[in-house]
Amino acid sequence: MADAPAQPSVMEQIVSLCKRRGFVYPASEIYGGLNGFWDYGPLGVLLKNNVRDWWWQNMVLAPPIGPDGHPVEIVGLDSSIIQNPKTWVASGHVGGFSDPMVDDRETKQRYRADHLMVAAAKVKRKDGRVDELGLVSVLSGDNALADFEKRVDKMARRTGGGQVLVPEHAELTPYTKLDRAAQEKVLGPDAAQPGTLTEPRAFNLMFQTYVGAIQDESAKAYLRPETAQGIFLEYKNIVDTMRVKVPFGVAQVGKSFRNEVTPRNFIFRSREFEQMEMEWFCHPDDARKWYEFWTNERMNWWKSLGVKPEKLRLREHETAELAHYSKMTVDIEYLYPFTAPDFGELEGIAHRGNFDLTEHQKHSGAKLEYFDQDRKEKGESEDKFRYLPNVIEPASGLTRAVLVLLCEGFTPDESRPSKMFMRFEPRFAPIKCGIFPLVNKDGMPEIAEKLYMDMRRQFTCEFDAKAAVGRRYARMDEIGTPFCVTIDGQTREDQTVTVRERDTMKQERVSLDKVLPYLRERLGL
Ligand code: GAP
Repeated sequence: MADAPAQPSVMEQIVSLCKRRGFVYPASEIYGGLNGFWDYGPLGVLLKNNVRDWWWQNMVLAPPIGPDGHPVEIVGLDSSIIQNPKTWVASGHVGGFSDPMVDDRETKQRYRADHLMVAAAKVKRKDGRVDELGLVSVLSGDNALADFEKRVDKMARRTGGGQVLVPEHAELTPYTKLDRAAQEKVLGPDAAQPGTLTEPRAFNLMFQTYVGAIQDESAKAYLRPETAQGIFLEYKNIVDTMRVKVPFGVAQVGKSFRNEVTPRNFIFRSREFEQMEMEWFCHPDDARKWYEFWTNERMNWWKSLGVKPEKLRLREHETAELAHYSKMTVDIEYLYPFTAPDFGELEGIAHRGNFDLTEHQKHSGAKLEYFDQDRKEKGESEDKFRYLPNVIEPASGLTRAVLVLLCEGFTPDESRPSKMFMRFEPRFAPIKCGIFPLVNKDGMPEIAEKLYMDMRRQFTCEFDAKAAVGRRYARMDEIGTPFCVTIDGQTREDQTVTVRERDTMKQERVSLDKVLPYLRERLGL
């Protein structure tokens, strides 16, 4: 009997939905795509902008209340993607921003060494004997164990058959954790022969370009790998022009670029992505207090997106893991379908000390010390009122936040024609309401269009007069639209419409002239 076709994984279903419904497309797809690059389609850009605006609202326009009971002060910035290349020497990115990379001499493929998972291939033969077939590697992710089983099964068939003894998830060891003697015996993920993987080498992740017409060393520049450095470069201008006083923050949302060795897991790790970063400048004596404050605030912010608390956790970095600039870092992690049962990074909150201002002061010659008038007036000593501020940095990925909302929203439901729906919090749903005339006649389209014209001034809505109403509801479920309003035969008689709620699928009749306030209240807008 033929094997039943394998069920697509949750991640495969999400990726397929994103393409089918215009959330995320592979970039330059008609040319075969480009690994690690994605385009946000008509619905994806709405979803992304909603998250971006919510971050900006909660960081810049209405920032949290500080420990002293007053709102903290944060200003915004939109700095250049390309900066003077000395920036990246000072920041340590030219010297040290690298990942361990491994090449396969047989297949010419390149992998991130810490993403190669290795285990011993063991097969139980028909006579009960257990044979070891060597060390086999697969790429990490939700398919790692299944991929491992498939590879070893093929090896077993070639050598007399038998049952693959699949290791536990925890028995998969990253390639980087093996000693060189073991690394030399590993079968690469796409190789036919073992022992073809090289030793891991550092690979700088910055994209290079040239500024101006002449392409020589002196014209070399970089696409920024983080938005943070633009903030440090403008710190002095902001202090001099904006009447801000330490402690204060500078927030920025924008594109960053990293030539990731193995971009993977859909938009989780891409080569072009967006970050939402805030640099919080504070007195060195208060840095620890603010580090804890921002850790707590940022965790609450992720919960405000509707992410289930049990799918979020905090993880402190061990000393060996800390980035070169960091005194301490805590990651906010999410239980992604492809990392489960492990969690994966969503945001890092780093205590950067005065690393960046010290380095930029040294490399640029600009004086970046802060003169703290309040502390001077309080009679504090000069080393307390003239100082380089410390920085606490909550740094998150906007495109990663989109991925979290897609994973969190994806809700299988066999009872619906769409077999699933996207349970977005209404605030983030790309379309808040679908407006449907039941049929395209009897005055229904005219009433529906008038409602659409009124509604679109207040929130995103979509007028749809095509196909059976069930098909229209199904599409709205797939894109996570919280409400649909249908104008039907009864509307002309009693001036009411049907409002259908996405999560419960319950329908209610609401008076046409009350439908806007009714929806606004339920959408929480
Ligand atoms: N300024 C500090 C900094 O950039 P990071 O941990 O390298 O720290 C911050 O990046 C956040 O940016 C990450 O937590 C993640 O959400 C996002 N991010 C980093 N690399 C990414 C990539 N290749 N693709 C998508 N998002 C990424």
